[in-house]
Amino acid sequence: MHLLPTWTIIVLFFLCIREVKSGKCPKFCMCDSIQLTVACVKKNLTEVPPTIDEITVKLDLRGNNIQELPTGAFKHTPYLTHLTLQNTGIQKVREGAFRSLGRLVFLNLAYNNIDILYQESFDGLSSLKQLIIDHNRIEEIQPGAFAQLGFLNLLSITHNQLVYIPNMAFQGLQNINWLRLSHNSLNYLDIEAFAGLFTLTRLSIDNNELQFFPTDTMTRLPSLTRLDLSYNPMTYLGEEVVTMAKLTHLFLDHNSLQDFSVSAVLLSPKLTHLDLSHNQLRILQPLAAGSPKLTRLNLAGNPIYCSCYLRPLREWAMQERVRLVGTCSGPPHLSDENLDAVQPADLRCQSHEAMLKAELEEQRRLPPPPTNPPGDKVKCPDNCICETENNHTSCEKMGHTKIPRGFSPDTRLLDLRDNHFHYIASNSFPGLPVVVSLHLQRCKIHELESGAFSGMKGLVYLYLSENYLTSLSPDVFKGLPQLTYLHVEKNQFKQFPKGAFKLLPGLLALHLENNAITKLEKGILTGAEKLRSLFLTKNNITNIASGAFDPASDLATLHLGNNKLMEVPTNAFTKTSSLTELNLSLNPIRWIGAEAFLPVAASLKHLYLNNMSLEKMSKDSLAGLGSGLQSLLLEGNKLEDVPDFSPLTGLEVINLAENPLLCDCPLLPLRKWLERVNLKVRAKCGYPPELKGQRVKDIHVFKSCPGQGPSLSQNLKIPKVPKSTKPRPALPRTPKVIKTIQAKPKTHKNTKSRLAQKPSAKSQRSV
Ligand SMILES: *[C@@H]1O[C@H](CO)[C@@H](O)[C@H](O)[C@H]1NC(C)=O
Ligand SMILES: *[C@@H]1O[C@H](CO)[C@@H](O)[C@H](O)[C@H]1NC(C)=O
Ligand SMILES: *[C@@H]1O[C@H](CO)[C@@H](O)[C@H](O)[C@H]1NC(C)=O
Ligand SMILES: *[C@@H]1O[C@H](CO)[C@@H](O)[C@H](O)[C@H]1NC(C)=O
Ligand SMILES: *[C@@H]1O[C@H](CO)[C@@H](O)[C@H](O)[C@H]1NC(C)=O
Repeated sequence: MHLLPTWTIIVLFFLCIREVKSGKCPKFCMCDSIQLTVACVKKNLTEVPPTIDEITVKLDLRGNNIQELPTGAFKHTPYLTHLTLQNTGIQKVREGAFRSLGRLVFLNLAYNNIDILYQESFDGLSSLKQLIIDHNRIEEIQPGAFAQLGFLNLLSITHNQLVYIPNMAFQGLQNINWLRLSHNSLNYLDIEAFAGLFTLTRLSIDNNELQFFPTDTMTRLPSLTRLDLSYNPMTYLGEEVVTMAKLTHLFLDHNSLQDFSVSAVLLSPKLTHLDLSHNQLRILQPLAAGSPKLTRLNLAGNPIYCSCYLRPLREWAMQERVRLVGTCSGPPHLSDENLDAVQPADLRCQSHEAMLKAELEEQRRLPPPPTNPPGDKVKCPDNCICETENNHTSCEKMGHTKIPRGFSPDTRLLDLRDNHFHYIASNSFPGLPVVVSLHLQRCKIHELESGAFSGMKGLVYLYLSENYLTSLSPDVFKGLPQLTYLHVEKNQFKQFPKGAFKLLPGLLALHLENNAITKLEKGILTGAEKLRSLFLTKNNITNIASGAFDPASDLATLHLGNNKLMEVPTNAFTKTSSLTELNLSLNPIRWIGAEAFLPVAASLKHLYLNNMSLEKMSKDSLAGLGSGLQSLLLEGNKLEDVPDFSPLTGLEVINLAENPLLCDCPLLPLRKWLERVNLKVRAKCGYPPELKGQRVKDIHVFKSCPGQGPSLSQNLKIPKVPKSTKPRPALPRTPKVIKTIQAKPKTHKNTKSRLAQKPSAKSQRSV
């Protein structure tokens, strides 16, 4: 064994001294008490060591195994300025994890497994200047994630899995200079994605999946000078798409540009450097008059053909002193010649014939375009399962971020649910004319572009439930003549998506439950003339205009339960003369006036008025309703009295449970009716106190009421009714002449199947 060098021993000695002396250098760590740094690198630590000296300013925890940063993870080291957490296996950063680090200026979280940036992940980092989260798995940025980082200059989220940037994602970054989003899978940026970034000068979105220049989004970056969009799949830039007041450098190299409009950058007056290298441009025209004064235009790696057609560009470049970078790809005598070196006079066209010949020859040299695999093998995109025997294809939950291409044209059912598309571009389903059913549930879809489904001539069922839709553009359903059932429940509509149904004349059922719609205006159903079922349960509807349902004169089922309606929207029903089922449950309707259901009285079969805090029903509230009504639910209200049910001779289900009925003379008609019908009604007394909880049917106080029937007088022991403790209408009321109507014998056979689908109704049926 050889001796250790003396200096090593000395160092070890001092380290030991320090550890012993302060007792604060945690096991496995190196502490420097002069620089105030602590490094615990590659030690497989599973938590932030709790005994780090409070005065530490730099902490390096690289290469450990800390899965989760809990709230207040660094509360014992408030003086930290630099914190390195690279490669520490972090999956979750709890809200407030960095709270107390008000002096931190640099935070590195690269090479971890973070997938979501939560709303308060970075709370408390009020001095932070640089935040590095590269090489994680971030897929979602919640609004407000960066709200407290008012001093941040650099934010880097490269090499993650972002597909989409929502509105206001970076809100709060008031001093940001450079935002790096390179190497993600971004294919869509919301219009306000970068809103509020007034100081941003540099934005890197290279190596993403943008197919179009995001004009509206970029226009909202007033200070941006450098924009890097290299390595995206853009194929053309249209007129005036780049509209950025301060932009000087624009990188569009390594895209697939085949066309670049002469006025593409017309509205970016400060642009000097334009990099269009490594695209597929064969020719480029001089920029339109009034365009910015470029100094450098990079065309390297494009198949530029140096014929007479290029001459205007070359002359323009000479005159405007624009440095052209790149070489000619042909004709042969100019091949590989620098663009800057060719003279305009050399850029000639031969006779038309000779040119065609040259072109043909060139095409022969190029590899042939890819062809589809031969005949009998059925096409099936990657990460999809195609069942040929029933023509069903499923790509469910496969992590797709773009609608796959290359489905078999025989596909009938296409299941794409639980993927992350965020955005459906127009014409996303080409060559699928016989798909009947398309499933896009839970795909994080925020927007559907006009004509998103065009060409799907056979589509009948479309499922867009549980996405983030807030509106539908009028042309979104273009090219879907057969669409009959549309599911857009559990989205984020605040307004009824009117206008979109004009293109769906065959629509029968529309599901809009669980949205946040606040009112129904006239004209919302324009175009949906055949609509029969409209589901609006669990919205926030306070108001329904008269005529709101007008064009849908066949409307039969209307679910408005669990909204904020304060009255029965009688006026909205004047033209819905086919309505058979109306559900108003769980609305705060306290009072129902006379003739509330008159417009639909002839057709209505099922009326649900349960759980509404209903206190009073006018005695004429059910006017017009007669033998057609089969179900009437009134349970869970605050009714003390009810209107006369005797005209409702077709009732099969009625429920009066959980109403504080006032068992006194005004209730006599109900009491008599109960005797005659063979129905389980569940009517119980709520008042007077000594009768509370007893079944109305069992009460005999009515004996003393005027107009009592003989059937009530069997029992002789009749308690005296004390005065009610509740204020109530003057008593006794003039008794009504009660006709003796025999309740129809029940005919259950043809209603069984319908009732079987409604468990709540079934359980209330009399036996
Ligand atoms: C790190 O710790 C985990 C458990 O805490 C253990 O499974 C793993 O083997 C350790 N790795 C090394 C290199 O020590
Ligand atoms: C599947 O598609 C083929 C071709 O269109 C058709 O002949 C066949 O009937 C389809 N099978 C089913 C179960 O729909
Ligand atoms: C419903 O409206 C109220 C205000 O009228 C609002 O506070 C609430 O958040 C809304 N609910 C939904 C689900 O949008
Ligand atoms: C009526 O709507 C409510 C939701 O508001 C629902 O819970 C209930 O089941 C519906 N009633 C019937 C009978 O469909
Ligand atoms: C409706 O009222 C009934 C009777 O009070 C009650 O059992 C039920 O839970 C209520 N339903 C809802 C959804 O509030």
